[in-house]
Amino acid sequence: MTDSNQAEFDARDLRRAFGNFATGVTIVTTVDANGVPSGFTANSFTSVSIEPPLLLVSIARTAYGCELFTSSRGFAVNILAQDQRDLSNRFARAGADKFADQDWHAGVSGSPILDQVVAWFDCEHHEQVDAGDHIILIGRVLQYSYNTHAPLGFCRGAYVSFGLTPPMLQMVSSPGSLRVGAIIESDGKILLERNPHSGQLLPPTANKVGDVGTPDSLLGKLASAGIEVDLPFIYAAYHEHSQRFVYYRGELLNIKDAIETGRLHFYDFDHITWEEINDTATIAMLERFIREKRLDNFSTYIGDRESGEIHPT
Ligand SMILES: Cc1cc2nc3c(=O)[nH]c(=O)nc-3n(C[C@H](O)[C@H](O)[C@H](O)COP(=O)(O)O)c2cc1C
Repeated sequence: MTDSNQAEFDARDLRRAFGNFATGVTIVTTVDANGVPSGFTANSFTSVSIEPPLLLVSIARTAYGCELFTSSRGFAVNILAQDQRDLSNRFARAGADKFADQDWHAGVSGSPILDQVVAWFDCEHHEQVDAGDHIILIGRVLQYSYNTHAPLGFCRGAYVSFGLTPPMLQMVSSPGSLRVGAIIESDGKILLERNPHSGQLLPPTANKVGDVGTPDSLLGKLASAGIEVDLPFIYAAYHEHSQRFVYYRGELLNIKDAIETGRLHFYDFDHITWEEINDTATIAMLERFIREKRLDNFSTYIGDRESGEIHPT
């Protein structure tokens, strides 16, 4: 650990010290007078005020785009998703053809809103503050949007993933057979599937997450019942000998009318027939989910069937 109180700091060391603050990663964008887009990767983003809606990001005076960003009509802050590391790297390289192969549309300020980001804020300039070798751009939010995808993180000079912690990654990628499941809630009801052989109820499961076009996968099974979901969070990952179970907490995107036919049904929290769930680990998980849903504060369980750790998410 470096403990420094001298007046003149070593720049690299100070940057390393600041880098202990874990952040997300954004790409800040704007357009020039001819509509040509420009952008740079930034982790100096901070929310500032709700009323009025303000945020800030600081841009290095040495950045190629600094002049444009301080004189443009506005700028947009795009918060990157876990799988957008390459995009982050591309926008962190001066002079690269940053927008090649990247779909975007213009926000009301004209600034590029990038596809597949976790959230975006389109801003007009509110104020600019001279701050040493950076300029702080304070933007007033004109429009914004967000979704439930896992965001990309950055700490100590490296990308980090909020979606999968190292113990979870180990659980998901270790050898042995894998069963994946989804906890999906809608209006105080939870989606359960009746096993055609045993008659038991369980959250929907499959051997892989897959995609909507693969009928024997989790997403395929749900899609063929008319249920479209996103599975952004791991809710429980546990093992029993070499069998691993990974349950995702799903976000319901769309339900078609056909849902109440088939083996999948939504059960009211208060009317779950617990005696039809013949598995203590599943009961414990569902009870935790119902408790946490009521508090709107979720966690993730990692361990084995009987004991494990609860991590806040
Ligand atoms: C994770 C990460 C965070 C960064 N944060 C900032 C930042 O907040 N402000 C900044 O000016 N540059 C930041 N940079 C560096 C710029 O992205 C980089 O200098 C970029 O080349 C500037 O673009 P330009 O020179 O083409 O305008 C960051 C780079 C990375 C990889």
